Amino acid sequence: MEIINRLQPGPDGRAAVFTHIIKGIEMEHPKEATVLVVGGGGRCHAIVDALSRSSQVGKIYCAPGNAGIAAQAECVPLKDTQVMELRDFALQNAVDLTVVGPEVALAAGISDVFREAGLRIFGPSKAAATIESSKDFAKRLMAKYGIPTASYRTFDDYEEALGYVRNGSFPVVLKYDGLAAGKGVVIPETLEDADTTLKDMLLDDRFGKGKVVVEEFLTGPEFSFMCFVDGEKVWPMALSQDHKRAYEGDKGPNTGGMGAYSPLPFITEEDREYALEHIMKPVAAAMVAEGCPFKGVLYGGLMKTPSGIKVIEFNCRFGDPETEVVLPLLESDIYDIFSAVADDAPMPEIRWKNQASMGFVMASEGYPGPYGKGFPIEGLEDALSDPAVRIYHMGTAVKDGQLVTSGGRVLMVIGSGDTLLQAHDKALEAVGKIKCDNLFYRRDIGWRVL
Ligand code: AMP
Ligand code: GLY
Repeated sequence: MEIINRLQPGPDGRAAVFTHIIKGIEMEHPKEATVLVVGGGGRCHAIVDALSRSSQVGKIYCAPGNAGIAAQAECVPLKDTQVMELRDFALQNAVDLTVVGPEVALAAGISDVFREAGLRIFGPSKAAATIESSKDFAKRLMAKYGIPTASYRTFDDYEEALGYVRNGSFPVVLKYDGLAAGKGVVIPETLEDADTTLKDMLLDDRFGKGKVVVEEFLTGPEFSFMCFVDGEKVWPMALSQDHKRAYEGDKGPNTGGMGAYSPLPFITEEDREYALEHIMKPVAAAMVAEGCPFKGVLYGGLMKTPSGIKVIEFNCRFGDPETEVVLPLLESDIYDIFSAVADDAPMPEIRWKNQASMGFVMASEGYPGPYGKGFPIEGLEDALSDPAVRIYHMGTAVKDGQLVTSGGRVLMVIGSGDTLLQAHDKALEAVGKIKCDNLFYRRDIGWRVL
């Protein structure tokens, strides 16, 4: 151990790689693992919480983390995109495994950089993350491998795109071909609105230089199917649904998600089987065939349309806020799952609790538009006194010893129970105990199933 501790990484990280190899040998003896979680919102809080339930995990770091995560992990002041600094941190702090939350870090190639340095990481390579970072790549992949999705065409020329849209039907779906923080999809009802969006995306480069995917508009309930994936191997998680619109009745602007729940009674076992066998498994196999095998969480954003289940989008990471309701239902040790994928090792049986989970997001007044920060939050301890309640922090900070709001989405309050109704009631009861002058939430989370 002495030697290990004294070794410092050289400029190319080689000495530290050596350190890691020695540590690998050492790890054959039972040892508490050190884990780094990259990210800082509610999703990462849920991952940290799941890791802290593992019997194998000792120390948890989270970069950058947040005020809530700080209760369960040591927060490290590094941003998710500081890939080289994160690698050096992992090397210097003998991190055994890194888990990545946000897509920006994956699209920036964090997994490749860590693997090159001999570090174990749970998350897809930059090439595999393209399934989320390029809509056009995802659509071409689905077309080539016969995976059901809306029909589409891709354009980089404004006039051509407008001509195509003019001859099609409305509403029409316009997707910017790149990461746009959830704002890259517009569904215009009229030609005039479509024209404005196409100008924004193709002439004014509002999201950056990129193409536009023009897609057929589909209808039906949407749901999220997250799977642990290692190459062709796919292990499904419990199904979930989020609520993207800001206001009750699914009205108002799109947000990062105002609530979520799991499981989904309106998706039959047959539907789930179809989605697994005809969508998730084939797409994992397609990624292998294309030379960019996927390792991590593959998120299928699916829709149950009148003509069957179709793909709306793929994401290359845990969903937010779905993860906050799904991971509390995981009975197995998540460190085993992350390790099996990171090491190409056999996966132990993954067990899920036969329970329901529902979460309400408490957001700052004004969100997703401009909002104020720094409002004191009280009552968390009272809300958490019920063991069926969990609270994940999305955007909080501590100022002069007081917990305050610091983001658009601030807290997610999750209830669990034998039924969705019980989970709903538990969560709402806890929400009622939280006092803050500047928060709102949607009371109708789960309306489809209650
Ligand atoms: P995305 O970022 O691709 O998930 O799109 C954001 C939201 O736009 C989705 O959650 C859907 O509600 C909606 N959407 C995307 N594509 C379609 C489509 N082809 N038909 C209908 N709605 C869509
Ligand atoms: N809840 C949608 C997403 O994670 O992208």
